[in-house]
Amino acid sequence: MTVLVTGGAGYIGAHVVRLLRGTGRDVLVADDLSAGDAARIGDAVLLEIDLADSRSVRPLAAAMKRARVREVIHFAARKRVDESVARPVWYYRQNIGGLANVIAAMRATGADRLVFSSSAAVYGATTLPLVSEDAPTEPANPYGETKLAGEWLVRDAAVAGFLRGVALRYFNVAGSGWPDLGDPGVLNLVTMVLDRLTRGERPRVFGIDYPTPDGSCVRDYVHVLDLARAHIAALDALDREQAGFDVFNVGTGRGASVLEVVARLGQVTGLDATPMIEARRPGDPPSVVASVDRIEAELGWRAEADLDEILRSAWRAWPASAGPGS
Ligand code: WQD
Repeated sequence: MTVLVTGGAGYIGAHVVRLLRGTGRDVLVADDLSAGDAARIGDAVLLEIDLADSRSVRPLAAAMKRARVREVIHFAARKRVDESVARPVWYYRQNIGGLANVIAAMRATGADRLVFSSSAAVYGATTLPLVSEDAPTEPANPYGETKLAGEWLVRDAAVAGFLRGVALRYFNVAGSGWPDLGDPGVLNLVTMVLDRLTRGERPRVFGIDYPTPDGSCVRDYVHVLDLARAHIAALDALDREQAGFDVFNVGTGRGASVLEVVARLGQVTGLDATPMIEARRPGDPPSVVASVDRIEAELGWRAEADLDEILRSAWRAWPASAGPGS
């Protein structure tokens, strides 16, 4: 049986595709290539398609039927917080409409297991020292809202008997499992710092007046390969159990501050990472660190890579034009 991976040509999706192919699983990738790169999916079959277009349900279902798809991992979504604030209608159309179309195609073809890419953004500005899956979900932007609403849709489809589903709430993903699968987006701390360092500019730190040990924000950084392995563990659990729907945090349970990450990137790259301290970025909660007891107990998964390995792997994968030795 083939696994359908939507958004499989993207940063995280490509890691999951490579793991699945490495275990001999057949993979069908559905991606519009707006952010993904077909070169990242190796010999997996690619269906280039706009999942948010309701006319896509038929061709997607046809491809799933031909490939005998029973399991789906859904990554395809827009994920820029600032863009979601400016374009909320488009974000709901893309993220919720795309998911609804995938579930419709699953119903039409008998595919009945779904792993859904969710986010710690569903927790919003939490003040909890460790965030468990039972913590209040109060997303602070349309991006986080579409992830929470997506979880509701998957749950409702499970209650209706269409499928069994797992939602994985990603904390801060970084690093690379292979040098050719680095994060191509300069949208989050690690790549934003590497981008500036390799251009000879000082990294920016948005606020050091937070109620945290060193005043800068604390986040839970998880290696993208560990995250990819969590998706395989979720698929295996769906294969074993009859549970309808469940939610799991994917993180390390350990926090690292912005200043700490910046300093370590200076050590890893050997470049001058003296930060420029700037004003707070609106909407940043002081600390967001995962409680990861549930995923370890239920799926038998836990993160293996520490922060140094995450940052070293990110540097190894930084574009050759600007990375080590450039
Ligand atoms: C981390 C910290 C910044 C860049 C995002 C989104 C969402 C989710 C997790 C997937 C913040 C600070 C950053 C810089 C800085 N992922 N920073 N200087 O905001 O925790 O969450 O990733 O769902 O995409 O919610 O991640 O990497 O943007 O910021 O000081 O140049 O680094 O202010 O405190 P964030 P981030």
